[in-house]
Amino acid sequence: MKLAITGKGGVGKTTITALLAHGLAKDGYKIFLVDADPAPNLGSALGIPEDVLEEVTPISEMLDLISERTGVRPGSGYGAMFKLNPRVDDIPDRFSITNPDGIKLLVVGTIKAAEGGCFCPENALVKRLLKHLILSSEEVLIMDMEAGIEHLGRGTIKTMDLLIIVLEPGMRSIKVAEQIKRLGTELGIEKFGAILNKVQDPKRDEKIIGDKLSILSIPILGRTESLG
Ligand SMILES: Nc1ncnc2c1ncn2[C@@H]1O[C@H](COP(=O)(O)OP(=O)(O)O)[C@@H](O)[C@H]1O
Ligand SMILES: [Mg+2]
Repeated sequence: MKLAITGKGGVGKTTITALLAHGLAKDGYKIFLVDADPAPNLGSALGIPEDVLEEVTPISEMLDLISERTGVRPGSGYGAMFKLNPRVDDIPDRFSITNPDGIKLLVVGTIKAAEGGCFCPENALVKRLLKHLILSSEEVLIMDMEAGIEHLGRGTIKTMDLLIIVLEPGMRSIKVAEQIKRLGTELGIEKFGAILNKVQDPKRDEKIIGDKLSILSIPILGRTESLG
C-alpha cells in the first residue's frame, strides 16, 4: 500500500504521517516513509536526532547521484537527453535512515511537475524511485508532501494507491481539499480519504467539514483531537 498525505499548509500532514507510521508499525507493518517536502521535517517528528538529520541530503539534491544515474547533471540546461529509466533499486537501502522503532525514512525533497513545468533529470530519478518501490503485503509506504498537489505530475502521484487529505476545522482547508480532489482526479488518482485533525468540537466540526466532504465524495478515515 502506498499512501500520500496532502492538504493545506500547517494542518498536520507531517504529524499525522508520523502518528500513522507509529500506529501501523505497532500493528506489525514495516513502514517506509518518504519526505517529499522541500523543507523536510518528518525526521524530527519521528524522533530522529537532529545531528543525524543534519547529515542527510535530499535525493533530489544529490547532484552526483542524479548525474551518474540519468546521464545529465541537474541544471545543465534544457534539451539535454537523460535516461528516463535510471537505476534506483539500491537507493532505498543506501540512503534511508531508520528511527529507533525501525521506521525507515527516505528524504526525497522537492518534487517538481514533469508536465509543462520541469522536465529534468532529478524529477525523472524521483519519479522512477517512487514507481520502483514495490512493497510486500506487510509493507506500507507513506509519502509526506508539501501543501497542495499543484507541483505534482501524473507520473509521480499515480503511483500512489490512496491520497489522504488532512483537514483542520475551517473553510480554507476545505477549499484546499476541493482543489486537491479536482486536480488529483485529473491526474488519475482514484482513491481519496480525509483525516480531520485539530478537532475541538467534534459535533460542530464534523457537521461542517463532514457535509462538505460528502458532497466531494471523500470518505472520512479518521479524526484527531486538537492537543493544544
Ligand atoms: N492535533 C493537533 N493538536 C495540536 N497541534 C497540532 C496537531 N496536529 C498538528 N499540530 C501542530 O500544528 C503544527 C503544524 O503541523 P505539521 O504536522 O507540521 O503540519 P503540516 O505538515 O501540514 O505543515 C505543528 O506545530 C504541530 O505540532
Ligand atoms: Mg509538513
